[in-house]
Amino acid sequence: MTHTHPLTHCSSASSSVSQSLPQNEMAKEGTVMLALFLLLLVAAEATQPQDEPTAVGHAASAPTHLHFYFHDTVSGKSPTAVRVVGPPAGSPSPQPTFFGTVNVMDDPLTEGPEAESAEVGRAQGLYMGSDQAKIGFLQAMNLVFTAGAHNGSTLALLGRNCPLDGVRELPVLGGTGAFRFARGYALLRTHWLDLRTGDATVEYDVYVMH
Ligand SMILES: *[C@@H]1O[C@H](CO)[C@@H](O)[C@H](O)[C@H]1NC(C)=O
Repeated sequence: MTHTHPLTHCSSASSSVSQSLPQNEMAKEGTVMLALFLLLLVAAEATQPQDEPTAVGHAASAPTHLHFYFHDTVSGKSPTAVRVVGPPAGSPSPQPTFFGTVNVMDDPLTEGPEAESAEVGRAQGLYMGSDQAKIGFLQAMNLVFTAGAHNGSTLALLGRNCPLDGVRELPVLGGTGAFRFARGYALLRTHWLDLRTGDATVEYDVYVMH
């Protein structure tokens, strides 16, 4: 509405206050304006179904794809993941599935697979041996982005990670900053694993709607 006519202001309120306008021409013009407005409104509503996409909200758009590498270092002088709870007493030794152990991590996330590759964030949280039949962790973590387009935003993941499987899928439960309302999933593939120490580099492909 780009009318500059002074009546425009009256007419926009005329439906509720026309009774209080004592006269005449103003009210008449106001009524015409209102009728026009209603006509436009009806016309607009009539065309709505064709213009509306079949899906609404973020479901209609493509997910954001994030790709990076996760470095889990448990050995050496400066590990980024530490065991805070060992296997329960009475477990077979060596403990084959890590059932009952808890590790806390603050693992770097990098652009490329090399440890010296540019850091894009950290994976902060824990993984806990929760499968008695195979190596399977419950992994709960925040991906904290510290560089690039998503610097300052986080994603919260919680899921099952069986590190010896070729591909693991973890749900993305939510996020902060640019990732508010996020939901999605992460696909994890081991890029490198030292079976002796347990150190590993894992490739992450994360798909999020937000
Ligand atoms: C990420 O954001 C922080 C806080 O705004 C800023 O200090 C830092 O320089 C940024 N890092 C990169 C790599 O852009």
